[in-house]
Amino acid sequence: MNNPLKNIYDFTEEIIEKASKIILKNYKKIRNISYKKGDSNLVTNVDKEVEALIIKEIISRYPNHSIIAEESGLRKKDPNYQWFIDPIDGTTNFAHSYPFFCISIAFMKNNILEFGLIKDPLTNELYSARKNKGARLNGKPVFVSKTKKLNESLLITGFPYDKKTSRMNNLKNFCNLTLATHGVRRDGAAALDLCFIASGKADGYWELKLSPWDVAAGVLILEEAGGKITGFKGEKYNVYNKQIVATNGLIHKELLKHLK
Ligand code: IPD
Ligand code: CA
Ligand code: CA
Repeated sequence: MNNPLKNIYDFTEEIIEKASKIILKNYKKIRNISYKKGDSNLVTNVDKEVEALIIKEIISRYPNHSIIAEESGLRKKDPNYQWFIDPIDGTTNFAHSYPFFCISIAFMKNNILEFGLIKDPLTNELYSARKNKGARLNGKPVFVSKTKKLNESLLITGFPYDKKTSRMNNLKNFCNLTLATHGVRRDGAAALDLCFIASGKADGYWELKLSPWDVAAGVLILEEAGGKITGFKGEKYNVYNKQIVATNGLIHKELLKHLK
């Protein structure tokens, strides 16, 4: 039976594998680094090359779809078909050859996330989810952890690029939660962080000031793995929210109590 959404999903899997090869080819080579807003918000020539490839492929097949991509912004077409692209999530890591970064692509139809794909080129791990079809890692189902108590949990977070100038820089939350849990990790790629919660490698994640391309794919992967996602006050979440709290569900209430 012809399934249009499955066809788009399969096509995206092919694109993400091509993008992954470009990143691998350039890892550890001298990269052309420039700065966006602020002295820690980097972009490399590889981010741009990978994003250009992904967009070219999408437009060649689906010229009427809308795209939100980190490096080139909005392409406004039919709002019922919306792509989210982060060509390299974890650019700072990539620029330093710290091995934690990924490509993140998500697709929304009529405002509903239909699928998300996140590829780590170095480990060759592909996290994926299709709406109501579960979350997978290289094709095998993954699920969130079963940790019930915050004081027995391992958490992940990140810090915004305006951390030096804004009081909302997450440092107080980081200190408080470091003392309240087994520990808090900061690995530097929001999309992979969400996959780590989805696959039970950690129990909860929060972050401020994110963009839809950082989270769209990871949000669906986490939800399909049985996790829970809200804003900081427990409110309903959508990918345009800047703040996110994402957990295995079991520690969610306790984590919310600690966040400011
Ligand atoms: C960043 C990473 C990082 C998070 C930042 C994001 P980028 O994305 O996901 O973990 O803390 O807020 O902007 O710039 O590497 O694509
Ligand atoms: Ca990102
Ligand atoms: Ca990026």
